[in-house]
Amino acid sequence: MHKIIIESLSLQYSDGTESLRDVSLGIHQNAVTVLFGPAGGGKSTLLRCLNRLNDLAEVKASSGRILIDGENILDPKVDVIALRRKVGMVFARPVPLPMSIRDNVTYGLELAGEKRRATLDEAVERSLTLAAIWDEVKDRLDTLAVALSGGQQQRVCLARVLALQPEIILLDEPTSGLDPISTGKVEAALQELKKEYTVVLVPHSVQQAGRTADHAAFFLQGELIEYGEGKSLFTAPKQKKTEDYVTGRFG
Ligand SMILES: Nc1ncnc2c1ncn2[C@@H]1O[C@H](COP(=O)(O)OP(=O)(O)O)[C@@H](O)[C@H]1O
Ligand SMILES: [Mg+2]
Repeated sequence: MHKIIIESLSLQYSDGTESLRDVSLGIHQNAVTVLFGPAGGGKSTLLRCLNRLNDLAEVKASSGRILIDGENILDPKVDVIALRRKVGMVFARPVPLPMSIRDNVTYGLELAGEKRRATLDEAVERSLTLAAIWDEVKDRLDTLAVALSGGQQQRVCLARVLALQPEIILLDEPTSGLDPISTGKVEAALQELKKEYTVVLVPHSVQQAGRTADHAAFFLQGELIEYGEGKSLFTAPKQKKTEDYVTGRFG
């Protein structure tokens, strides 16, 4: 089932850059979909459109629709705050808040008015467990999140997003600064997360795309070149450009 349907999405920034050209694709529920390809392909732009974070950029022209659960989220009438709660995002560099591990996870819930200790405690354990870091931090929830390693900080940031119980999780190169062990933990967490959520990942390498993708979309200079099932797209790409990229001939 498609959780997200992108229809003929085009976007041009005010400097004239055409970052997305007539992109259409359906993103499956309970699966990891990767958007991959060389830098400048429009992957981050597309991800930021999915939770309207690109509203903050200087955009000259855009057209098309993005349906989430059947609703066009590009409609100006959409409640963007509610949308961003439903569509959580994790960025390349972890930016924990200057507070304890526990408070990092409960911050959003408390902002939303949640005060019940038991509910907050339950959210902390559930979110940190899902983000595959509970065992590493459960005995020191009151220490500062910034004191953790980069890999641990990134998983706390993932937990912070999960605490708000989103339905869709966007991750933009979430492991680009992490060592292989932390990267493996984040990748393993994604495989668990997809059981409950719709996951859209911009991987930091073709190798990571191959390891994590149930479905994969290859972007080149704003165009969707090929989209298909992860395994077949990497082992038997249909387009020459995809093949050249996945076999390392360019990029
Ligand atoms: N906020 C912005 N303002 C102007 N141009 C941008 C902005 N963000 C991205 N771009 C341009 O849009 C193109 C696609 O960028 P991006 O979406 O970041 O691609 P990717 O994530 O695949 O590297 C690039 O040419 C980039 O320079
Ligand atoms: Mg990017």
